[in-house]
Amino acid sequence: MTQDVALDALKNCYERLLEACDMLELIADGLPGSVPLALCNRLVVSLVRLVTETHLQENQVLLPMLLASERAEMRQAAERLRQEHDYDDQVAIEVEEALVDLVSGRSVLSPDATGYLLRSFFESIRRHVYAEMDLLSLIVNVAPRGGHLH
Ligand SMILES: [Fe+2]
Repeated sequence: MTQDVALDALKNCYERLLEACDMLELIADGLPGSVPLALCNRLVVSLVRLVTETHLQENQVLLPMLLASERAEMRQAAERLRQEHDYDDQVAIEVEEALVDLVSGRSVLSPDATGYLLRSFFESIRRHVYAEMDLLSLIVNVAPRGGHLH
């Protein structure tokens, strides 16, 4: 995969992840009375896979570029992002379980707790993705062809 194709694939993941955040916000806004089941079902089958796919793309494209930098803060950013990925992977599974419960109508969590879980997840994911998009545009604008940032 050329660098441009890989970057496009990563940007596409970010777009889809931000759309998923918007859907989660709609679901959280509808609690407790109005749960959009079709949206829940859509996310149940796609959210964890999308988060995993995004992290795979980042491991192949974004993190190696940051780690190759001579600037210590870029390498630190890569390490921080990797730790956030581990956390996001875990929470994405919890969110998926909460969505399954919502669809089944047998939630273990209270509506408030479900809303809090969804909001903390999508707000964290949005911040994370926007930070990565900023880093990406910084790197792509600075890096020479071949992708290493010095
Ligand atoms: Fe990330």
